[in-house]
Amino acid sequence: QNVILNGELLERGEASIDIEDRGYQFGDGVYEVIRVYNGKMFTEEEHLERLWASAASIGIEIPYSKEQLQEQLKALVEKDKLSLGTVYLQFTRGISPRKHPFPAGGVTPTFVAYTREVGRPVEKLQAGVKAIITDDIRWLRCDIKSLNLLGNLLANQKAAEAGCDEAVLHREGRVTEGSHSNISIVKDGKIHTHPANHFILNGISRRVMLEICKRENISVIEEPFTLEELTQADEVFLTGTTVEVMPVVELAGKEISGGKPGPLTRKLQDLFKNEIE
Ligand code: PDD
Repeated sequence: QNVILNGELLERGEASIDIEDRGYQFGDGVYEVIRVYNGKMFTEEEHLERLWASAASIGIEIPYSKEQLQEQLKALVEKDKLSLGTVYLQFTRGISPRKHPFPAGGVTPTFVAYTREVGRPVEKLQAGVKAIITDDIRWLRCDIKSLNLLGNLLANQKAAEAGCDEAVLHREGRVTEGSHSNISIVKDGKIHTHPANHFILNGISRRVMLEICKRENISVIEEPFTLEELTQADEVFLTGTTVEVMPVVELAGKEISGGKPGPLTRKLQDLFKNEIE
């Protein structure tokens, strides 16, 4: 397997990270996960734009142009002969003696990228998944795709321990998102989803879904919804790079839409599939 480390294509075993890399010590960095379908990065532009935005919001300057980064990622996907999978990439602030303030005089960010073969979760897309509901204990800048994922990990671990795929997060009864996906509900033919503000990651798959809705004249209400609305929804689905449009058929042990994916979720799944083919 090949990896990119600071612009160089290396064998995985040759790549090493310093123990005082701020990403390793502090989670001081940002990342993206990009889907590869048919050897091509899906919505690559959007992911790179969000990467730049995340980096800028924590004062990391990416030492490449978007075109340079695109070329590197393309070379990696080609070298790995990746047809269906993901590209993971991250920039940390860089290497510096451990101190909280950003290194004085600047530091070169550490860039890592590698691919992974990942199939489409066809069975789960067909049958739907189960989710738990838990407190959103994360910080207030969830719009930044930061390496600091402990709040997400703790929630997802709880889900895993309950035999579920996702944890639906809420702040005092207002649903925000999943631990690694965005969430939407359907009520009376309308889609409700949290607005893209500091409380959620503005998911690229969420945006693809919203574009589809616009085109298809499906009503969308981008406003926070409550736990009560969630549990009484006609349909619930997740969106994300790895989960696509994923039906949730059981929430906190109770069936949603009769334990089967609902019709609007099915329609969105089909339309999403058209986008990626
Ligand atoms: N997760 N919300 C959170 C907290 C996420 O971590 C993700 C993605 C999403 C969906 O975003 P997008 O549609 O752009 O993938 C929403 C990635 C895949 C991950 O951490 O593995």
